[in-house]
Amino acid sequence: MAYIIDGKAVSAKVRAEVAEETAALKERGVTPGLAVIIVGDDPASRTYVNNKKKACAEVGFYSEEYALPADTSQAELMALVRELNEKKEINGILCQLPLPKGLDEGEIIEAISPKKDVDAFHASNVGKIMIGDFDFLPCTPAGVMELLKDAGTEISGKECVVVGRSNIVGKPMAMLLLHKHGTVTICHSRTADLKEVTKRADILVAAVGIPKFIKADMVKPGAVVIDVGMDRDENGKLCGDVDFAEVEPVASAITPVPGGVGPMTIAMLMKNTLAAAKIQNGVE
Ligand code: GUN
Repeated sequence: MAYIIDGKAVSAKVRAEVAEETAALKERGVTPGLAVIIVGDDPASRTYVNNKKKACAEVGFYSEEYALPADTSQAELMALVRELNEKKEINGILCQLPLPKGLDEGEIIEAISPKKDVDAFHASNVGKIMIGDFDFLPCTPAGVMELLKDAGTEISGKECVVVGRSNIVGKPMAMLLLHKHGTVTICHSRTADLKEVTKRADILVAAVGIPKFIKADMVKPGAVVIDVGMDRDENGKLCGDVDFAEVEPVASAITPVPGGVGPMTIAMLMKNTLAAAKIQNGVE
């Protein structure tokens, strides 16, 4: 029986810490502010944005939502980002991805002031993460690191395999594990013998976006398995990239979906926004 890593509980702990620090910061006249931009009406993005707004209210942040129609032009979106870059009450800007077709995500990400880039997607912040000298960590990989800490997982010297090479999860995830002295391999759709690589992992992170992709025969007995997937199975039910029923008996610890990595992303966003508010106001 694997230890089930409880993302909801760890997320609640992180958010409680942020709320406490926010209360202290408010006493000094600083209220952290987050602006969330959503373009179009993708239902999954809408749910994420609602959850982000709710989390802001719970920790005591000021927040603004900009819900723009799907036919918003690149120029309009760029103008909004520039306005928010200058807005004093706003310490963090998050533009929910993916953007509707026709909008240039790269240009928007680069237009967000690196100081307010609480997603840590801007090239300047990505570069800082590579060097190991950063203000913010990307929310999902940072959340995974918190979960590994909670599970008491030693990373130093361990074989860490990340399946997926996205800019949002796979690549920064590998870097964070490397900072903690893991021996890191990134796998992707062109990896020749995927199973051979994943079976070596003491720590296996799945971030491929394919439902139940990781099966028991791809996992080393006793591995710690982290599932970043948010997929739908054949019945439309929420599931992860890991076949939980198959893999749980093989693993020593595993994250469920839902209730694993998902809740951590928002908690880390709150942490980044608090850090941004402190930096912008010269606190600490
Ligand atoms: N879409 C899916 N995950 C994320 C995230 O962490 N940040 C943003 N901005 N968009 C996302």
